[in-house]
Order: sequence, then structure tokens, then C-alpha cells
Amino acid sequence: MPITTQKLARFKAEGRPIVALTAWDYLIAQTLDEAGVDLLLVGDSLAMVALGYSTTLPVTLDEMLHHAKAVRRGVINALLVVDLPFLTYQESPQQAMHSAGRALKEAGAQAVKLEGGHPAMVETVERLVQAGIPVMAHVGMTPQSVHQFGGFRRQGTTPETAEHILQEAIALQQAGAFAIILEHIPDDLAHQITQKLTIPTIGIGAGAHCDGQVLVTADLLGLSSWQPPFAKSYMDLKGAIAQAVQTYSQEVRNHQFPPA
Ligand code: KIV
Repeated sequence: MPITTQKLARFKAEGRPIVALTAWDYLIAQTLDEAGVDLLLVGDSLAMVALGYSTTLPVTLDEMLHHAKAVRRGVINALLVVDLPFLTYQESPQQAMHSAGRALKEAGAQAVKLEGGHPAMVETVERLVQAGIPVMAHVGMTPQSVHQFGGFRRQGTTPETAEHILQEAIALQQAGAFAIILEHIPDDLAHQITQKLTIPTIGIGAGAHCDGQVLVTADLLGLSSWQPPFAKSYMDLKGAIAQAVQTYSQEVRNHQFPPA
């Protein structure tokens, strides 16, 4: 049965952890969906894992939508969320409405994700939700602010910054966000936020007490050339691909493939 934002809220109430992963193309999306993932995020991390950039900043909305359309064709059950990339929503609620509208209308997204919880972003979330666009929020180490943070550094490590992130999360819930990503913050802060909020928290580098977890799928598969310290690889797909390609190359060079 297709996953909805209402179902995710029910999962939190029932204490059933939410499984989320990123996707950037048709085959990956289809495989993850068939494996039973609850939520698929076309994350702007695709700038790094699919396009080879060193940050998420360069990817454009058109590029995101190109990938999101391919993902949409592979997904039947998972809730499909599309990241709005850097500077396609921060200028004004109108800009955010236009970008989010394109994600829903052109790519078939069921929700969008925005980074940040300062008052202007809270207002933007409120406006999108009022227009019928489900929004997933994202606080803590928000990668689009990498230069402001001086790197992909853990956030919320002092009592003041921890309190700030907690207040942002509460404000985003009040604005109508249906879920919130907590990225690279201390475990006890993520735990506190998870207990305070009624909407599901989905953690990445935020400990075991969130209502769900998300990973960048390239990290999970062991495909990434760099991954953050909190990511876990469940296999060495890069090594497996290299081995298969070496065997194929050997067989071609030895006139063993195709068989006579
Ligand atoms: O872009 C992305 O993949 C993300 C996840 C890390 C949450 O935002």
C-alpha cells in the first residue's frame, strides 16, 4: 500500500521506525521501492554522488527534476520527496511556491524538502503547506549552508545552539511540516526533539532515538568515494563492480566473451 504523510505520522505514534533512503535514477528507485523503503528522497546530495560536485550547491532545479522524473517512474509505494536545491526557495515564498510547484507538477513529487528553520523559512513552509504542498523540514547540519558552517561540521554542540535547533524544529512543526530531518547533531538533542515533536523526526548522524533514519544510498551501497563519519556501508558495490568489469575485460581480451 502506498505510503502517505498520514501513514508516517501513524508510524511515529505506533513506534514503528521509518526507513528512508535517497534515490537519483530509475533503477535505484525501483530496487529500493521493491525492497520496501518507506520514503524515497531525491536529495540534492545527488550533486555529489551522481554529478561529481564537492558540495550540493551547484545542482539546479532543472537537474533535480530530471532525476526526480526518472525516480518517479521507478516508485510505486514509497512516499516520494524532492529536495529543492540551493537558491530555488530562499529568495521568497513566491520563489519557493514556484519551485515546489514544479516538483509536484512536473516530476510527480508528493512532497518537497527545504533546509533551515529561521523565521523566513518558517513562513515559507507555512505558505507552501497552505497551498497544499507537503513539506519535510531539515535542521542541524544543513549541507546548503556548508560555507557558513566552515565545512560539514556537527551542529548543536553548545547549549545555546542546541536550544536554537530545538526552537527551529518546534517552529517548523507549527508551520505545518509533516516530518523533519535532523542531520549531524548530538544524539541527546535529537532525542529531545523527537520527544517534543508530534511529527516524525528522521535522523542522519543524529543517533538512534529518531523516529526514522535516512542514508545516502551511495554510502549504504559502498559506492561513494567520500562519506561522512556517521554513514554506514552495508556492502562494497564499488569493489564488486570493479571485479565484474575486470572479469568481463579479461574474457573479452582472451576471446572468451561472447562464447563462440
Ligand atoms: O540531500 C540529501 O541526500 C539529504 C539527506 C542527507 C537527508 O538531504
